[in-house]
Parts: sequence; C-alpha cells; structure tokens
Amino acid sequence: MRLVLLGPPGVGKGTQASSIVKKYGVPHISTGDIFRANIKNGTKLGLEAKSYMDKGLLVPDELVVSIVKDRLAQDDCKDGFLLDGFPRTIEQADSLDQSLSESGIKLDKVINLSADKDILLERVVGRRICRTCGATYHIKFNPPKVDGICDLDQGELYQREDDTEETVSTRIEVYGKETRPLIDYYTNKDLLLDIDGTQPIEQIFEIIVKSL
Ligand code: AP5
Ligand code: MG
Ligand code: ZN
Repeated sequence: MRLVLLGPPGVGKGTQASSIVKKYGVPHISTGDIFRANIKNGTKLGLEAKSYMDKGLLVPDELVVSIVKDRLAQDDCKDGFLLDGFPRTIEQADSLDQSLSESGIKLDKVINLSADKDILLERVVGRRICRTCGATYHIKFNPPKVDGICDLDQGELYQREDDTEETVSTRIEVYGKETRPLIDYYTNKDLLLDIDGTQPIEQIFEIIVKSL
C-alpha cells in the first residue's frame, strides 16, 4: 500500500497516520517528524529547517525532496509506505512522481482531509504530544486520562513550538498557496480520496479503511 496524506495543518493527518500504519504495517514517513527529530539532535539539517518552521514557512524543496528520496529507498519501504505532509508543493509532487516511476511503482491513493480555519486553529492550539513516544492528544477532543501525562508510557505532554495561533495562521495561508493546488493535481491523476475532516477521529478512519 503506497499512500499520501494531504491536508492543512491540524486537520488530523498524523492522527489518522498512526491508525493506518498500525493496521496496514507500512512505515509512517512524516517530513515534519523527520525535521523535528533533526532539530532535537542538533543536526545541520535541523538547524536549517528550524529557521523556516519557526516562521510557519515551508522548508525549501531541494532539502525536503532529497530526504524523502533517501527515506523511500530504504528497505522497509519496499512493500509500501504512508507519506504524511509530503508532497506539499507541485515541485515536490513532480519529483515524487518521477522517482516512483523510475522504480516502476505507483501511488495507490492520496487521502485528502479538509476542515475550515477555525476548526484547524482549535485543533492545533489544543494539541499535546508525548515527549517519549510522540502520541498525539487534544485537551478537548482526545484528552489523556491524566492531565499532561501520556496514557501509554506516562511521558510528559508538551506543545509544539510552531503551534502558536500566529504561526498556525501563517501555516494555513502557506497551505492555501503552495499545497492546496495538489488537490487538483491528484484529482487529475484519479488518485484523490476526499474526506470531510470535521468528523470524529474513528469515523474518518472507518471511511479510509473502507476505501482501501
Ligand atoms: P508538519 O509537522 O507536517 O505539520 P502540519 O502539516 O502543519 O500538520 P500538523 O502536524 O500540525 O497537523 P496534523 O494534520 O498532523 O494533525 P494532528 O493529527 O496532529 O510540518 C511542520 C512544518 O515542517 C511545516 O510547517 C514546514 O515548515 C515543515 N515541513 C514539513 N513537511 C514539509 C514539506 N513536505 N515541505 C516543506 N516543509 C515541510 O491533529 C491535530 C490535533 O487535532 C490533535 O490534537 C488531534 O488530537 C486533534 N484531532 C485530530 N483529528 C481530529 C478529529 N477528527 N476530531 C477532533 N480532533 C482531532
Ligand atoms: Mg502531523
Ligand atoms: Zn507516550
């Protein structure tokens, strides 16, 4: 299964991704997670990515494309993968298209989640993430059993640095300009599965499973 998850900040890509990879056993490739891991480890890539992410801007295509290319060439991607947050520009989509066709493989589906700005803002600002395992919660929509503590491993929950209202507004604007055109791009390739992202988490997952 070769899948892409498309959608604006906070729409629920990561949330659905964790259920999808559990069910289908494919690796979860989130470019945002890759950058955050590099920031945490203080790499050169992390330092460069951070200067864009802190402002809510996209990391330049050249950087992102080569990282994803390397990741997809790894052994665990041979039988499938789930891309979360990549591609995000037409250039990235073209380059993905090219490297897949060079390997003689095709995407099976592009899952597009959508929701209005007020919903996205509320989701992002209320999001909490486990420092240990990365599990995602929401203070209102998906709260942990104990405030500030991960259900799975008792890790501390934190807020992402780019989850301020101001940065999220920029991220949503950038999404509209750079990423939304990919909806047409993948509709034209007959790959798009469009899902109303305002539905409950479990309901969205059910729709995805039925369509795959
Ligand atoms: P990235 O980490 O990908 O952030 P994003 O696209 O802004 O998306 P988010 O991770 O914020 O949201 P999500 O859709 O995963 O939502 P989640 O499931 O967590 O990218 C960060 C930055 O890295 C970018 O700004 C850019 O700088 C850089 N970058 C990354 N990829 C790049 C690329 N390809 N090119 C260039 N730059 C790149 O859910 C959000 C909250 O809502 C959670 O609290 C969750 O519990 C809750 N929730 C989820 N679903 C529901 C639901 N159905 N109902 C109620 N609540 C829900
Ligand atoms: Mg995410
Ligand atoms: Zn945890």
